[in-house]
Amino acid sequence: MNRKDGGVLQGRVVAVTGASKGIGLGVVQKLTAEGATVIGGARDVSGVVCEGATFLPLDVTDAASVDAFAEQARRAGVDALVNNAGVGVFKPVQDITEADYRRVMDTNVLGTLLMTRALLPHFQALGRGQVVNVTSDVSARTFATGALYTASKYAQRAVTQALASEGHAYGLRVTEIRPGMVDTFFGDTQQGEEYKAEWLKPDDVAGAVLYALSAPAHVRIDEVLLHPVVQDVAF
Ligand SMILES: NC(=O)c1ccc[n+]([C@@H]2O[C@H](COP(=O)([O-])OP(=O)(O)OC[C@H]3O[C@@H](n4cnc5c(N)ncnc54)[C@H](OP(=O)(O)O)[C@@H]3O)[C@@H](O)[C@H]2O)c1
Repeated sequence: MNRKDGGVLQGRVVAVTGASKGIGLGVVQKLTAEGATVIGGARDVSGVVCEGATFLPLDVTDAASVDAFAEQARRAGVDALVNNAGVGVFKPVQDITEADYRRVMDTNVLGTLLMTRALLPHFQALGRGQVVNVTSDVSARTFATGALYTASKYAQRAVTQALASEGHAYGLRVTEIRPGMVDTFFGDTQQGEEYKAEWLKPDDVAGAVLYALSAPAHVRIDEVLLHPVVQDVAF
């Protein structure tokens, strides 16, 4: 996708975590196509290219890595953060290990906290800013084998909502994006497999992120819940 002159995000600078593939890369492509400058991070960014984006190594579970990434984002004039990096482990409760717990909670919850904390003073100084958290449709419901993953997503939802309450005093706008099944590499799967043909595409989720980021300055999009039509939904 080529960058548009006069896109709706012209002049905006957005930091995106988990930007190397899947939903995150779709978000980078969508936002840059609308004129934004993007700073994208993931642990392995080798070979990842998108016009209008700079990709930097980032491990959201590591405070030093987060701070280095945040510093580059601040230097670029960041005004929005998309917390998208995430992992999933799906097992019955009796099989969940401490290592599983730390991997999922550290990436999905601690990562969101560290990354957000690193940029909040900058947004406070600006008197504006946006934080968009990609959680999941299962941030408010659970299922068998979903204990650990959904615990992390419920927690991310709680962080999102508390941050919205804290941030409105200084003009921070906070949005939760809650996708159902998306065709990505999530859970060590491959993108483009036949069984995922009717699932959401990263570009669909990116459209929801764009909706939140392009809302007029007096509008806060609190939450977007989206599913592929083929997904049976238990609200
Ligand atoms: N796919 C779905 O059906 C679905 C549905 C609802 C919500 N989600 C959520 O959407 C988000 C993105 O998932 P996805 O489906 O796009 O998965 P994906 O294709 O596996 O991509 C995950 C991205 O996160 C990065 N990442 C993982 N651990 C990281 C870390 N510690 N620090 C920095 N980056 C890290 C990965 O790069 P590296 O491994 O190189 O770091 C990659 O860029 C996740 O939060 C997930 O929970 C997914």
